[in-house]
Amino acid sequence: MNFIEQVKEKAKQFNKTIVLAEGTEERNLKAADIILREGIAKIVLIGNPEEIHHLASEYSLEHIGKAQIVDPMNIPDEQRYIDLMVSLRGHKGVTPEVAAKQLQDPLYLAAVMVKAGDADGEVSGADHATADVLRPALQYVKTKPGISVVSGAFIMLLRDTMFGEHGMMVFADCAVTPNPTAQELAQIAVTTGRTTRAIAGFDPRIAMLSFSTKGSAKNELVDKVVEATRLAKEMDPALQIDGELQADAAIIPGIGAKKAPGSKIAGHANVLVFPSLEVGNIAYKLVQRMAHAEAIGPVLQGMAAPINDLSRGCSVEDIVGLVAITACQASEA
Ligand code: ACO
Repeated sequence: MNFIEQVKEKAKQFNKTIVLAEGTEERNLKAADIILREGIAKIVLIGNPEEIHHLASEYSLEHIGKAQIVDPMNIPDEQRYIDLMVSLRGHKGVTPEVAAKQLQDPLYLAAVMVKAGDADGEVSGADHATADVLRPALQYVKTKPGISVVSGAFIMLLRDTMFGEHGMMVFADCAVTPNPTAQELAQIAVTTGRTTRAIAGFDPRIAMLSFSTKGSAKNELVDKVVEATRLAKEMDPALQIDGELQADAAIIPGIGAKKAPGSKIAGHANVLVFPSLEVGNIAYKLVQRMAHAEAIGPVLQGMAAPINDLSRGCSVEDIVGLVAITACQASEA
């Protein structure tokens, strides 16, 4: 059974409710039909009910009737949501009028439904940019206690099984925080460790990457990674983590032993934490394209409840897989 099939089987046990904000979009509807047919999760579709039923019949989808449909122009629980939004963001200028207007945007409505406990998680982004999906979630769902930064991990399935955990590695942050501070980088390491256990299903050995290994270069960018490694150990003393390490020292045993003798991580890392979003985003795309790796994600981490962003080029199967991942994250929450 491949990795995503395993995650789908796991998700079925939890029976979580996942909201799809783009409920009238073709791939979302087709994915919802599969998810409902296979019992992977319960589904809330946001959109005009007549349009959804019309499209379901046009695409010959037989299971959409099992979805809960919420029309952003006629929301049954509107006042409860408005009260919640004003209580959370009144100090940021969210009045009842502002809240009512925001709720007409399916991405805001989905995030507020999650915050209100009416859904366990959200998957959106087939038709929207990452920032548009993230903003409502960052504003209303916010971060987990003890975490102030959201980040995005990719589960990388490599052809060469000598790397990581029999060819499986986790990369972060590849999706959200452009230039993390040392404190934020430490949080990214800790949350990526949690994602690795919960979703990838193995014990993390985390390398904090840099262009320097154990003091080989002196620069404030290196200092940031050293400090982040120290802070991550402070946050979670049981975490298996080491840094700063260069990429080759992190993943090639012979080079790790030479450049970082005594390190239990060097040469054996299965999780790579990048020093900035630029590096993480470029690195995962290069590995995906040049090494023909499968990149699953981004799995967003650090949010108080799971919200995941689709690529605009996603397939129906990608949506099904990300809903299953979101349901598994919700079970951890
Ligand atoms: N973690 C936690 N909270 C955050 C984060 C973060 N990384 N970033 C912003 N916030 C909070 C802010 O504190 C603020 O809260 P407040 O309103 O209660 O004070 C709220 O979110 C909104 O913050 P803004 O700075 O106004 O939000 P903005 O929309 O400008 O930026 C965003 C946030 C969207 C995450 C931005 O940093 C971004 O665009 N990041 C890059 C995303 C991206 O394009 N990734 C690459 C593509 S993905 C891919 O290739 C897989």
